[in-house]
Amino acid sequence: MGVFSKLASGIASTIYRPGDNIADEYHKWYYGTLGQTRLTWMGMTCWKSPSDMWNYQEILWELKPSLVVEFGTYQGGSAVFFAHLLRQAGHPFRVLSVDVTHKYLTEDARRDPDVTFMESSSTEPIVAERIRELRDEYPGPVFAILDSDHECGHVLAEMKLLRPLLVPGDYLVVEDSNVNGHPVAPGWGAGPFEAIEAYEREYENDYRHDSDREKKFGWTFATNGFLIRN
Ligand SMILES: C[S@@+](CC[C@H](N)C(=O)[O-])C[C@H]1O[C@@H](n2cnc3c(N)ncnc32)[C@H](O)[C@@H]1O
Repeated sequence: MGVFSKLASGIASTIYRPGDNIADEYHKWYYGTLGQTRLTWMGMTCWKSPSDMWNYQEILWELKPSLVVEFGTYQGGSAVFFAHLLRQAGHPFRVLSVDVTHKYLTEDARRDPDVTFMESSSTEPIVAERIRELRDEYPGPVFAILDSDHECGHVLAEMKLLRPLLVPGDYLVVEDSNVNGHPVAPGWGAGPFEAIEAYEREYENDYRHDSDREKKFGWTFATNGFLIRN
């Protein structure tokens, strides 16, 4: 390679910037190859994007919630991930993880002393009651994350259940709002993304969007779904 071509490739490698859709393409590749089903935290399956998990780590460290509410437990890996991080923060906390079935919950996850696993549909009034009790027992901010049934009506009902329970400054992540073409799984049907839209039509000032956080890694499973309670 001549001196000029070396110079040109050096310059190109420093100024080259792929188009913005590269992140969408990577997102589609990760989702389409079922990367989320192979992601683990300390050996425990977490059906997530690794960069979302990194974002959650940063949010938890900044927010220092005393209660994490997760709808959709599956094997329990993500609930344990939140507990591991919060133990490091060193203040009293609880993780409440709710799932309609404990069929997939692992023994490793069940052993975590700081996680309460509750078997119920997330939209049952008893879930709201439990959250209220835990808020009293663990005063401080709440980090809530919706990752259960991704049908629009169900997610909207979850958001409405949380409405009287969350207070200004609490954080809500609505996961899997990437489906139905945002940008994966086109044709999936109305899902979490549309639930956020419907909720905001009804209660337009409840949340502000943490857009910088959402855009930080260029792609997320929670499209439009990083919300801070006003
Ligand atoms: C995507 S998985 C959760 C993944 C888990 N949060 C993780 O990151 O590994 C979705 C879970 O939602 C649960 N689920 C489905 N419908 C539900 C409902 N109505 N209420 C609560 N959980 C539900 C399913 O049983 C399943 O375990």
